[in-house]
Amino acid sequence: MSKVFYLTTAIDYVNGQPHLGHAYEKVITDVIARARRSFGESVFYLTGLDEHGQKVQQAAEADGQTPQAYCDRLAADWQAFARKLNLSNDDFVRTTQPRHKRFIQAALARLHAAGEFYTAQYRGFYSAKEETFLTEKDRRPDGTFDPAYGQITELAETNYWFRLKPRQQWLIDHIEANPGFVQPDYRRNEVLGFLKNNVLEDLCISRPAARLNWGIPMPFDPDYVTYVWFDALVNYISVPASLGDPAFAGLKLDYQPAAAVPGPALWPADVQVIGKDILKFHAVYWPIMLKAMGLPLPRQILVHGWWQKDGEKMSKTTGNVVDPVAVIDAWGVDAFRFYVIRELAIGPDGNWTDAGFQSRYQAELANGLGNLINRSLAMLKRYRQGVVPARHDELAATAAGTAAETRAQLERNELQAALITIGGLVTRANQYVDHTAPFKLAKDPAQAQRLDEVLYNLVETCRVLAVLLWPFLPQTATKIFAQLGLTGEPDKFALSAWGGLPAGHHCNDPVPLFPRRDN
Ligand code: MSP
Repeated sequence: MSKVFYLTTAIDYVNGQPHLGHAYEKVITDVIARARRSFGESVFYLTGLDEHGQKVQQAAEADGQTPQAYCDRLAADWQAFARKLNLSNDDFVRTTQPRHKRFIQAALARLHAAGEFYTAQYRGFYSAKEETFLTEKDRRPDGTFDPAYGQITELAETNYWFRLKPRQQWLIDHIEANPGFVQPDYRRNEVLGFLKNNVLEDLCISRPAARLNWGIPMPFDPDYVTYVWFDALVNYISVPASLGDPAFAGLKLDYQPAAAVPGPALWPADVQVIGKDILKFHAVYWPIMLKAMGLPLPRQILVHGWWQKDGEKMSKTTGNVVDPVAVIDAWGVDAFRFYVIRELAIGPDGNWTDAGFQSRYQAELANGLGNLINRSLAMLKRYRQGVVPARHDELAATAAGTAAETRAQLERNELQAALITIGGLVTRANQYVDHTAPFKLAKDPAQAQRLDEVLYNLVETCRVLAVLLWPFLPQTATKIFAQLGLTGEPDKFALSAWGGLPAGHHCNDPVPLFPRRDN
């Protein structure tokens, strides 16, 4: 069975509030997934929720609910959020699902049997908020810990540990030999710098059940549950394994897939999209976990930056947040998707301002794309009763060049660059209207043929744009196709080839795609 293009996102903490940062990551991944499907590849897009750990246990207690009931309620909101963003995810994992729990227990049992773990006592300062032990390096110059760590307790406990150091050099070699493994390059250099300048400390992978029972029990020791990060990272493979991915068949795990075998060939993931704050978990711990299990590493960890609002960190306490649902309700899902991809390349940090959002909406969606589609179809209707004239190729080379460049950029996950390229075709076509002045041609019967040519170039460019925009703005692209009177979806990149509109085809009346706003 041929390999499926497998993409993942970080799984969000179930007790958090869905915000711009979560939405951004899922939209990036969705655009890549849709682009690959439109190229004809089979794709599997996984996203989901991280549901265990002390924070969830405490929040559920404060709410007077069992942790499971609490998670079930919030998970419904997160799934509604995914639909609101128009994500095309193929599955939605929750770390409380039996399929995940069964797999992780089988994997832990196998690693334990292979001698990968040992027990040791640890005394130290623990941040429940970050679910982590702090070290001397985490202290500020005055000796205190940053309040961002929340309440700190001194603990002395015996736990299970996973050795990292023996695989440190192997990981350095892998990252050096595979420049695409961590992208962008400056994130790769950050990981390499960290690995070369520090001796990796072993990873504590358990928590005593007496202190924390909202976790997956260690299969070989019921007094312990699995550390939430170890649990969470494994979602990327527990789902493929449960679907019967043949990559797991040779592992000799005590695990039966839930689905018929063999299932889709998903692992190794092609792209794992994460934010910069969780780079160490994904580029250091995760590869070493996979190596210990005898599994290949993902082909790429793609690291995006963080959004701020009005130049400051988003924070619920100060109310400085962007609520994607409110933006989508007011402006439409595609306006939101457009802005986050167009504003920010994958890598650097971004800054959301409402004024910036509105000015891009006005300039690029209402006056740019929306106006082009609207006036092209309005003129076709007014001058030719909506009937497509004979093919003409004046804009064909420009459209083909745009399609080729867009495809190359999409293949490199350069989503912002691809949107800029597509925007260039919109601008070119709007200038074409201004230069050819069809409204003047229409007044002169001797120019009837020239008017036919101009109208063909315009409506055909609109059709090509729908195809190119589909991964980014699926609703809008579908509406453009419908207004062009075309059946089916603009969801195959091959449809961007020039000349798809046949002469005599009847287009529909235009309906504004991005109404102009005065606020
Ligand atoms: N549960 C862990 C991830 C486990 S993955 C095996 C987690 N969850 S989170 O809800 O805090 O964050 C989920 C994702 O959202 C992360 O990739 C994080 O970087 C991203 N973002 C959270 N806030 C963000 C911004 N302000 N801007 C952009 N992305 C941000 O970490």
